[in-house]
Order: sequence, then structure tokens, then C-alpha cells
Amino acid sequence: MTGTDWAGWQQSWDRQQEWYMPDREERFRVMLDMVEALVGPKPRVLDLACGTGSITDRLLKRFPESTATGVDLDPALLAIAEGYFAGDERVTFVTADLKDPAWAARLPHDSYDAVLTATALHWLHSEPLTALYGQVAGLVRDGGVFMNADHMIDEATPRINAAERARRHAVMDRARTGGALDWAEWWALAAADPVLAGPTARRFEIYGEHADGDMPSPRWHAETLRTAGFGEARAVWASPSDTLLLAVK
Ligand SMILES: C[S@@+](CC[C@H](N)C(=O)[O-])C[C@H]1O[C@@H](n2cnc3c(N)ncnc32)[C@H](O)[C@@H]1O
Repeated sequence: MTGTDWAGWQQSWDRQQEWYMPDREERFRVMLDMVEALVGPKPRVLDLACGTGSITDRLLKRFPESTATGVDLDPALLAIAEGYFAGDERVTFVTADLKDPAWAARLPHDSYDAVLTATALHWLHSEPLTALYGQVAGLVRDGGVFMNADHMIDEATPRINAAERARRHAVMDRARTGGALDWAEWWALAAADPVLAGPTARRFEIYGEHADGDMPSPRWHAETLRTAGFGEARAVWASPSDTLLLAVK
């Protein structure tokens, strides 16, 4: 695998995700602010549905004494993560399906200071997500945190939601003229790469374009996390489309 520009793939993934979420980096910053505030600057972190490891990357740059386990099912994104972090003993990657009831048994630890996730759990329907939240509650130590930054839609505000969506898509359309890649174009590039072509074909066999899930409201996430065993849960950041939900065990 020598010769592959893993940092280049990591950056192009970030650019593609930022086209959908221009405030993605701010979300990560607030996430790590709250990690530091609640569990300190040397956390053991589980990067849930890590993709290429974007959260882990920000974590290790800001808190060099932290350690991370990244878990995901996508062989192509995990190949980029493993290439990019190769040789860094602070990081371990695990392949697992978060819908598999036994996924947590594959982790190298049974307890974490923080479980962090972004732009991923809307790939699950509410029922498997409720089960996953129960498992996450078991993995977070007492006093530890779970944070989920994702699209969370309040169905009680349809006019606000429609206006926000229309505005967001207009901004994205303008950004396209600047050469931003969308999801399908980014995956076409990965499929054309000699090293990533194999894992990319496998990820399309697993997911198709991407999995189908739900985007319940911030309130649903907070209530489900409290029912799962967290003592407190609420939003600590929000944009017009996204919420960063924090739960403390
Ligand atoms: C849009 S990406 C976000 C990745 C990363 N968290 C980020 O912010 O860049 C969604 C990720 O969720 C992962 N994912 C979705 N469903 C999953 C499942 N059932 N098990 C494991 N990973 C899953 C996908 O493989 C993908 O890497």
C-alpha cells in the first residue's frame, strides 16, 4: 500500500463532508470542548462509526495523551483511516456492524471515558438506535460522556424545517460552482483508485449508496439516552440543521 496519499484522501473526505456541513469543524471543536470540560484532556475515546477517523484526528491533535478506538463497517473508509494513522499506537480500528448485538465484544476495552459520533447514527432506524444507545450506556464509565452530532429533525416545526432545508441546498448549489465533490462523485474517485477500488466495491455490496435510517428530534435522543442509563442529556450546540447532543452517565 506504499505510495497512497492517505492524508490526501483524509482531506478530500473532509472537504466532501464539509460541503454538506459547512460548520462541521465547529461541531468537532465544541465536542472536544465538552470532552475536556467533563472528562479531562487525556480521555480514552470510542469513535463510533468513525469513517476515516475525523473525530480521532481532531482528538489526538488537541489532546496528544488521549487514545482512541475507531469502529466502523465500511472497508474503504477504514482503509483510509488505517493508512492515515499507521504507526500511531494511540489508535486502534475495529470492523463491526453496530446493528450486530455482539459488536461491542470486538472492542479492545469494555469501558470508555467518552463515546463520540458524528453524521452517522441517522443511518440507523430508531429501534436499532435505541438498542445501540443501551449498549453505549454500558460502555461509558460512570461520569463519562456520550456525544452525537447529527441531523436531528423536530417534526413539530415543518415550516422552519422546509425553509432551513431550502436555504441549505441553495448554499450547497453555490458551493458546487467552486468544485466541491458530492457523495457520489467522491465514491466514484475512490472506485477508480487502484488501492481503494476493492474495498469500495465491498462497501457498496454492504450498504448500496448508503443505509436507510431515521432522524428523530433532539428531544427523542435525550429521552432515549436517559432511559438507556445516562443521568443527564441535552443539546450543547445546534445549527439550523444539526444538533450536538451530550449525555453524562
Ligand atoms: C457520513 S459517515 C461519517 C463518518 C465520520 N463519523 C465523520 O464524521 O466523518 C457515516 C459512517 O457511519 C458508518 N456506519 C453506518 N452504519 C453503520 C453500522 N451499522 N455499523 C458500523 N458503521 C456504520 C458508515 O460506514 C460511515 O463510515
